[in-house]
Amino acid sequence: MIQPSLTLVDTDPAELAVDAIVIGLHSQPDEDGALLPAAGAESIAAAFEGRLTSTLALLGATGAPGEVTKLATLGTVTAPLIVAVGLGDEPSGSAPTPETLRRGTGAAVRALAGSATVALALPLPDDADAPAVLRAVLEGALLGSYRFAGYKTKPQPARRDPVTALQVHVPDAADDAARAEVARAEVVSRVVRLTRDWVNTAPNELRPPQFADAVLAAVDGSGLEVEVLGVPELEAGGYGGILAVGLGSAAPPRLVRLSYTPAGVSDPKRVALVGKGITFDTGGISIKPAAGMWEMKSDMAGAAAVGATMLAVAALKPSVAVTGYLAMAENMPSGTAYRPGDVVTMFDGKRVEVLNTDAEGRMVLGDAIARACADGTDYLFETSTLTGGQVVSLGKRIAGVMGTPEVCERVRKAGESVGEPAWPMPLPDEVRKGMDSDVADISQTNASMDRAGHMLQGGVFLREFVADGVDWAHIDVAGPAYHTGEPTGYWTKGGTGVPVRTLLALVEDVAANG
Ligand code: BES
Ligand code: MN
Ligand code: ZN
Repeated sequence: MIQPSLTLVDTDPAELAVDAIVIGLHSQPDEDGALLPAAGAESIAAAFEGRLTSTLALLGATGAPGEVTKLATLGTVTAPLIVAVGLGDEPSGSAPTPETLRRGTGAAVRALAGSATVALALPLPDDADAPAVLRAVLEGALLGSYRFAGYKTKPQPARRDPVTALQVHVPDAADDAARAEVARAEVVSRVVRLTRDWVNTAPNELRPPQFADAVLAAVDGSGLEVEVLGVPELEAGGYGGILAVGLGSAAPPRLVRLSYTPAGVSDPKRVALVGKGITFDTGGISIKPAAGMWEMKSDMAGAAAVGATMLAVAALKPSVAVTGYLAMAENMPSGTAYRPGDVVTMFDGKRVEVLNTDAEGRMVLGDAIARACADGTDYLFETSTLTGGQVVSLGKRIAGVMGTPEVCERVRKAGESVGEPAWPMPLPDEVRKGMDSDVADISQTNASMDRAGHMLQGGVFLREFVADGVDWAHIDVAGPAYHTGEPTGYWTKGGTGVPVRTLLALVEDVAANG
């Protein structure tokens, strides 16, 4: 997997020998009604002798966030092309919000496919906010250049290649903090791209054994400790939920466990990351409608995010112990599939009455969460494309978070800080009451509520498998993990890589604050 090279430069952007230069444009006109170029574009504006923004306005530019306008420079500056990206009104602080810059940079770099080398001359403050703002620009640029290789058998002449080299203009290219951000962005981009690639891979090519092998190949040499449980080990360990979901498929389930131990830290805090890895979700015997079912190739996005985050952890080495649990199965209808009415004994011994085989995520996750708690952990963050209810209530961009209230707030803050919004949701008692089963310890869904509070039912069910004393959060990313619309900002069509950067921020938050 290739990503553009990244270098910092502090020479005059107007003199950079690159194929294109990205500048920012504010939407708020100055006293004369002219649009304002953002900080960073000064020397380029000077080269245009006062005609830069009027020319951009002539081409339709308004400075609205994410808007991209291309302008041939005709020799005014060294680079032949300028791309102005809208950054909205001029900020009152030192720079636009990091997410405005992340999305804008992503949109500009995406629009520059076909150009090999691109320089960014964007508003980067020279103060305490500098590293966070630079981080956003670097992430936006690297992620905006992502493209899934795909499966086309013929070369596509109309498809222009993503940018291969990025030069980022900063106040001081030798600054240690800035250089550290470059190293970090390269790691973060690599693992987010990996997540997107796994999610975008066709489901016939990524069934549980192949997914497990792909994860093992990716972490090879990373220093992570690896354990893979196949069917014999799952049977011996009593992982009834993972096995039940896997029964219908000819491709057997897996539980992949990846651990990172920080060097030289005595008694570190422990974090468990748990991800749903349904490589394809047909619904099983409670089969889904055909329309849009293909999208369920993304039902392993949680496990992909956990595996990728573990890789980032191995590279960035925070002072906290982190273990990832990737629960993989394919949910298929067949003569061997599990069925509504089945009673399944889970890893922790609890018995679950199955009511709908399409609620398979909570079955594999119940086992993985219980295993994580049996291993011992202080915090548990679980993420899954768990319910259509998440999409109904919060939409395609905002994840739903349920669990220990203080931890939910930490997830919300972490998500906000990285541009992956997440919102706390309750775990009401009445939802749990309706899950009392006539025959087993708990029903898999609340039959009396039908689809009401669907997302909450998922959270309430998963809570049963979290051990007392473990602070936890369930992050439902059914909407944000997969983007079906046109590319926008640093999101392309398909897997988004959500919530990798949130999980990483949470791990770093625990490392820093306990
Ligand atoms: N993988 C789906 C949830 C999903 C829906 C993810 C749409 C992404 C987009 C999950 O396994 C599922 O089928 N959930 C059911 C639960 C129900 C049967 C209790 C749902 O949300 O309808
Ligand atoms: Mn399902
Ligand atoms: Zn599912």
